[in-house]
Amino acid sequence: MQIDIISVFPEYFDVTGLSLLGKAQEKGLVTIKAHNLRDWTHDVHHSVDSTPVGGGAGMVMKPEVWAECLDDLLGLDPANLTMPSDGEATAQPDAEADAGQSNRNTVEAGQEHVNPSVEDGPVLIFPNPSAPLFTQADATALSHADRLVFGCGRYEGYDARIPTYYRSQGIDVREYSIGDYVLNGGEVAVSVMLEAITRLLPGFMGNPESIVQESYTGDEPLLEYRQYTRPTTWRGLGVPEILTSGDHGKVDRFRRDEAIRRTSRIRPDLVARMDCSSLDKQDRRL
Ligand code: ADE
Repeated sequence: MQIDIISVFPEYFDVTGLSLLGKAQEKGLVTIKAHNLRDWTHDVHHSVDSTPVGGGAGMVMKPEVWAECLDDLLGLDPANLTMPSDGEATAQPDAEADAGQSNRNTVEAGQEHVNPSVEDGPVLIFPNPSAPLFTQADATALSHADRLVFGCGRYEGYDARIPTYYRSQGIDVREYSIGDYVLNGGEVAVSVMLEAITRLLPGFMGNPESIVQESYTGDEPLLEYRQYTRPTTWRGLGVPEILTSGDHGKVDRFRRDEAIRRTSRIRPDLVARMDCSSLDKQDRRL
């Protein structure tokens, strides 16, 4: 997988050379390159932002600089591009523009139905606090892409025509929020998505089983049961006795019960979205 990241602070991504992600790059599973957006500016100040049209606080990232950078990285020759007719890209109501993220359909407010599969070609991803939530299903789908290009916004964000324009050029463009809070820029959000995606690459994990057992994975997005290690008594605290019984069937049942109970208590929203036909008779007794 080839990953390009565009940012005005590319140094944020120096850490991608560490730990398992660093090893994955050494093994040739993934190549990560961080680019400085200012390298595509032409003025002495290397400016990437301007005041918002219509007024308001802060600055918005300019489309021209982004377009030069993205055309370059995506190998698009602006001379051969079809321009959206006037108005098409500018006057789009919100819902229509968002429908470009066509692999997702809103089921009900705040809940996205996820069918995020990836086709051939690069996927262009912008973190955005006002976008649908990034989920494990998105990470799984994106781990099958050959090429990901992440664009990190700063200030009050990027000009809304950037994603619209690249969608109009046939690029798979996605915008994601990583949670209901606002960060200073997209860099941390990209780091989160990057890690969630790359750890799913075949060969990334020493033990691929550790991915299969995790929270949010599979058809039943249950929170994981709690784990313990030795010593079995520590500072007066024991571990559930059944875990030391050696009876794997009982241990599995215990863990599953705990996962269902914890999910109902901590994340009832996940239970509400679960396909209950996957629950067995013993689950239903809980
Ligand atoms: N940029 C700022 N806040 C963000 C968030 N919560 N998710 C994605 N991108 C962001």
